[in-house]
Amino acid sequence: MPLLIRNGEIVTPDQRYIADIFCENETITRIGKNLDAPPGSEIIDAAGKFVFPGFIDPHTHIYLPFMGTFAKDDYTTASEAALVGGTTTIIEMICPSRADEPLQAFELWKSRAQGKSACDFTFHMGVTRYDAAAEAQLREIVKAGVASFKIFLAYKGAFGIDDDELWHTLKLAKSLGVITTAHCENASAIAQRQAELLAAGKTEPSYHHESRPPRIEAEGTHHLMTFAEMHDAHVYVVHLSCEEALQAALAARLRGVHVWVETLIQYLLIDKTWAEREEGFEGAKYVMSPPLRDKKNQKILWDGLASGLISTLATDHAPFDFATQKSMGKGDFTKIPNGIPAIEDRVNLYYTHGVATGRISLHQFVDTASTQAAKLFGLFPRKGTIAPGSDADLVVYDPKYKGKLSVKTQRQNVDYNAFEGWEITGRPAAVTVRGQVAVRDGKFVGDHQRGRFLKREATHF
Ligand code: URP
Ligand code: ZN
Ligand code: ZN
Repeated sequence: MPLLIRNGEIVTPDQRYIADIFCENETITRIGKNLDAPPGSEIIDAAGKFVFPGFIDPHTHIYLPFMGTFAKDDYTTASEAALVGGTTTIIEMICPSRADEPLQAFELWKSRAQGKSACDFTFHMGVTRYDAAAEAQLREIVKAGVASFKIFLAYKGAFGIDDDELWHTLKLAKSLGVITTAHCENASAIAQRQAELLAAGKTEPSYHHESRPPRIEAEGTHHLMTFAEMHDAHVYVVHLSCEEALQAALAARLRGVHVWVETLIQYLLIDKTWAEREEGFEGAKYVMSPPLRDKKNQKILWDGLASGLISTLATDHAPFDFATQKSMGKGDFTKIPNGIPAIEDRVNLYYTHGVATGRISLHQFVDTASTQAAKLFGLFPRKGTIAPGSDADLVVYDPKYKGKLSVKTQRQNVDYNAFEGWEITGRPAAVTVRGQVAVRDGKFVGDHQRGRFLKREATHF
């Protein structure tokens, strides 16, 4: 059914104006004043509201076998949560084990999403082993439309790769025009510190931070920069959490390394004291890697987003139940499944604490939560903007809405909300997925057959 969105205030990174948007055959076909619509069109009155391009979460985990368990969401729950929160495109990390074949992993991850996802999706292909067989399969996966890799310099003995593998992955990525996203922490230093802390009887969640302090993240970042420089490869540092790591990335950028930086909503809003809450093992809810940092880093990350030094704001959504999964780490913090759920709340928290407080302009908000991810990962201008020819993924945003976040009302399939009781200002009133309404008045009304796998072209030569 054709769709007309009337009188909304359209916001992109470089424009802000009031107009109507007409959508047909999944795309935006006309933007202008007083547009007419054929009989039978759906009409949304967006007067007094913003219209944003659908938001993109460039770093999520939905199907994630990790630390002896599995992340809780599937595509049914995660895509509903994403859409209710204004995210219309999910980029998930494919994370096979070393023993898995990359092509099989690619097919498995795709099969988890197809027919279940109410929003569009694509993947960063995890390279967790590099040999001739893996290389041949990675070439096939890139041909099939996956234009980015994911590597882990952390998680020794699990997803982590060694330096020879890092060398060859970046060499291959450069030759294929693929951007490599990377978790940057020095795996050996972490393993040593974990062993020392446990031997000293320091087993509580609060020691997670001590086992991987900022300098270890900065070392991982610097390490990636050195290897990227050797190949002139394009790299993207995922979930950067602190000043030391940002300095390492920016120093490399100044000497010509093609590096982009992502941070997370969690790092902007909660700090390491949350993971130090001892009562009832509460801190485990906030154990993730890199860890939540000292509060002083928050201003640096906000300023990085406001100035464009940090390109994207993601979630690293990784939901593990507190009662049955986080509790696996009682008596040994290294066994707490790492991760914090946030796919549902990223945009509203970012608007509330960024735009509504004046920390982030509306343009920079759209750029860092949507447009930059589209540009970096080969989705622009199909996604990430509002223009004729673009997919009609639109968020009609009510800036006057006031509400509270809670596990009781969330759609994420996990038994806690990391921001329980937090107030929000603004939320999506309506959200469309390629021209079909998926959220109305904050309620999911979408279709789990709607989401498509997005094939992407490699452009990072
Ligand atoms: O703690 C985290 N970040 N969990 C998810 C896996 C990862 O490292 O991205
Ligand atoms: Zn990571
Ligand atoms: Zn992650």
